[in-house]
Amino acid sequence: MDSYTKQMHFFGNTNVEELVSKYGSPLFVYNEDILRRQMRRVAGILPNHRFTANFSIKTNSNLTILKIANEEGLNADAMSPGEIFVLKKAGFPSDRIFYVSNNVSEEEMHYALDEGVMVSVDSLSQLEMFGRIAPGGRLSVRLNPGVGAGHHEKVVTAGKKTKFGIAAQDIPMIHEIAKKYDLHIVGLNQHIGSLFMDFQPYLDACRNFLHYAEDFDELEFLDFGGGFGTPYHKLADEQEFNLEPFKAALDDLLTEWKKTSGKDVLFKMEPGRYIVAEGGVLLGRVHAVKENYGHKYVGTDIGMNVLMRPELYDSWHDVEIYRDGSPVVDGPRDTYSVVGNICESGDIVAKDRDLPVTKEGDVAVVLDAGAYGFSMSSNYNNRLRPAEVLITSSGEDVLIRRRETLEDLLRCFDI
Ligand code: LLP
Repeated sequence: MDSYTKQMHFFGNTNVEELVSKYGSPLFVYNEDILRRQMRRVAGILPNHRFTANFSIKTNSNLTILKIANEEGLNADAMSPGEIFVLKKAGFPSDRIFYVSNNVSEEEMHYALDEGVMVSVDSLSQLEMFGRIAPGGRLSVRLNPGVGAGHHEKVVTAGKKTKFGIAAQDIPMIHEIAKKYDLHIVGLNQHIGSLFMDFQPYLDACRNFLHYAEDFDELEFLDFGGGFGTPYHKLADEQEFNLEPFKAALDDLLTEWKKTSGKDVLFKMEPGRYIVAEGGVLLGRVHAVKENYGHKYVGTDIGMNVLMRPELYDSWHDVEIYRDGSPVVDGPRDTYSVVGNICESGDIVAKDRDLPVTKEGDVAVVLDAGAYGFSMSSNYNNRLRPAEVLITSSGEDVLIRRRETLEDLLRCFDI
């Protein structure tokens, strides 16, 4: 049996060893074909309706990947002025960017409005702020439909226990404030959470959301949010998020709603992970193999500064071991924790995994690292953020972000 990455021909005409020798380690590597395949899938979610998919760039804001998303016709959602700024640099025009703001300052709100970007507000107090800044303006309001979902309580973004969105019972207040400032609520948006494999909670939330939407007369769009999952346990045959039954069920719901409500609006979604997670892996060199009181460790340069998810959410990422450019698939196996080089006991990429017997000099390949990987990386312990490489559709490797240097650690100091 070949490794997953080998089966996918993930590394094109190059191989893991060449990549690490050429660009250093740790290294994020993306596969253009997989990225484009996922982008096309989301762009086609609602073929029978007016629909656009917004790529949620908090998952991955590499300029080259954003340019690919732009080429594939995706719109984008932004969560900060920085994301708006980078999206514009990647070529997204203002009218294809949606700013899903949360607890922002007046300056930030102004920035988005000056850039000509549609803004969604997330609370009654921010609706007031918008009204003061842009009376008579057009905006979207983020509702909390009372239903949430997600892989960890930290990523559930709707329901009764989250800071996000305006509760349904406050809808009359939304109308009052809108009236006070002559605001035009042209959009409603929601996002119930991240990484669900069962689409039922999403559909239930859409149903609630559509019901609330009937109270708004000037609607031009409805944005249902993202959250579609990625099979992180693919080596154990976990199946991918099944789009087809989801598409059919949502299509029925929306067709029915259009009939009963008499409204014809643009539908939007904000997927992120589904688009980029599987198209990225993280390579890290094994520098030590050790045993501590009966526990075996594979010591790599993949610190939690490079991949935060396991530390933050106990997230699972499958790991493959490569030696001399080829996956190690046969031979003896053992149980190891794959750990990084950061001064924290929680610096664990993968805990107690059954892996081939691993040696110094091997390369650990962490799967499904394309979403919330680099974008959540940091300089903790004054470690450098890694480089990013794209394997193009023709199989070539291209550097799409250089590795940081020691000098980069000083760039904000006046010395
Ligand atoms: N739209 C909004 C308003 C969001 O807050 C998010 C994610 C998305 C869209 C995209 O969600 P996705 O399709 O990627 O699930 N760092 C966590 C996930 C945090 C998600 C935050 N919001 C992780 O690594 O699992």
